[in-house]
Amino acid sequence: MRILANDGLVEEAVEYLRREGFSVDTEKRDHDDLLGDLPDFDALLVRSATKVTRDLIEAATTRKGKLKIIGRGGVGTDNIDLKAAKERGVVVKFAPHGNINATAEHVIGLMFAIARKVPFAHHTLKSGVWHKARFKGVELQGRTLGLIGCGRIGQAVAVKAKNLGMKVVGFDMQKWMDTDVDYLDSIDHVLDVADFVSINTGGKSCLIRGPELERMKSSAFLINASRGVNVEEDALYDALKNGRIAGAAMDVYENEPKREGEPFTSKLAELDNVVLSAHLGASTANASRKTGMEISKVVCKYLKYGDFCQSVNVGPTVVDEGIDLYTIFITHVDRPGMFGKFGTAFGEMGVNIQENNSRRLDGYAQTIYTIQEKPTQEMQDQLLTIEGVHRVVY
Ligand SMILES: NC(=O)c1ccc[n+]([C@@H]2O[C@H](COP(=O)([O-])OP(=O)(O)OC[C@H]3O[C@@H](n4cnc5c(N)ncnc54)[C@H](O)[C@@H]3O)[C@@H](O)[C@H]2O)c1
Repeated sequence: MRILANDGLVEEAVEYLRREGFSVDTEKRDHDDLLGDLPDFDALLVRSATKVTRDLIEAATTRKGKLKIIGRGGVGTDNIDLKAAKERGVVVKFAPHGNINATAEHVIGLMFAIARKVPFAHHTLKSGVWHKARFKGVELQGRTLGLIGCGRIGQAVAVKAKNLGMKVVGFDMQKWMDTDVDYLDSIDHVLDVADFVSINTGGKSCLIRGPELERMKSSAFLINASRGVNVEEDALYDALKNGRIAGAAMDVYENEPKREGEPFTSKLAELDNVVLSAHLGASTANASRKTGMEISKVVCKYLKYGDFCQSVNVGPTVVDEGIDLYTIFITHVDRPGMFGKFGTAFGEMGVNIQENNSRRLDGYAQTIYTIQEKPTQEMQDQLLTIEGVHRVVY
């Protein structure tokens, strides 16, 4: 099978995929070339640069098109038309774990940079002037970090901040069980108490506008390494200019240049109490390696074994609809036709099958059916009448 890694792929991941028997092409194609070439590939791997639009997906899934899966190295999938992929039977998987540490470290780095004014001190020295008194900072130890969004990255930031002696509070609709975050009941409460506010929600909602900035302590700093849209930049500009908050450190922007070397235009760049970085959260060699390996492995698992792990556009819709699911475990001889017999037996008993998973054991196969009816003694007895079935448990 053929894999196209259109936004590059670390050599280690390319070698891994080749060892697994895939042919890997890393030549970058533009949209027009992709329209012609993508139908010949079984998988497309991208990061954020390639826009996987409906027309591309449709072209790659005509009768002769081979495309089966799109892998996004990283977490955001806004560059992929998930709906079009779902309609055409193309699974989209992501790799959210490889970036966690890099982004969390960057958040901590931005906090230090703005609290100790390192970039401003650096600039004055580069221009040949010694300034010390101007750059008195604050320490992180003993301060309160307020997290808005306490998912994978938020939790990693929390661990690091705790180790720096910070108190960590946060708000999220989904609470982790084992966590360093003291959960508060609203974003407003986080803003009320935090000395540093870090947004880690991702998504497309604007969470910090004028009223939220009004709520923050005047000595507080805002950190955004999430998504540009999460903060209204005009409101932030006003708050920084008027000294409403002490400072901000931004890694993401409402309008980000698309290509390396393009001009960056943001009013924030005029200000002296802001630290800016160019969406560098995940930009480390380690993160590229981890993410490249992660996406290669999950794509490989789908193509070779039909494993849906880390899919973002297909999910257990029956669970979403609130239908209970049950499992029944069958040990049976490993020969052709067994699944047909199981399917017929479940059908005759009026049982809907959600999915099945099977592995070879010594001379036998172990199959687990996920079904929409509670298993019964009768079901067990019925399955045991099938020739070649060794054991049935539920
Ligand atoms: N700066 C970078 O280079 C960089 C790198 C990687 C990820 N990111 C960004 O970081 C985001 C977070 O990544 P993650 O892996 O932690 O994702 P995640 O899905 O594990 O965590 C996001 C959390 O935010 C919560 N959330 C969503 N909307 C919320 C709201 N309105 N209020 C409170 N909580 C809310 C979710 O419930 C979830 O727990 C990504 O979506 C991405 O945008 C940036």
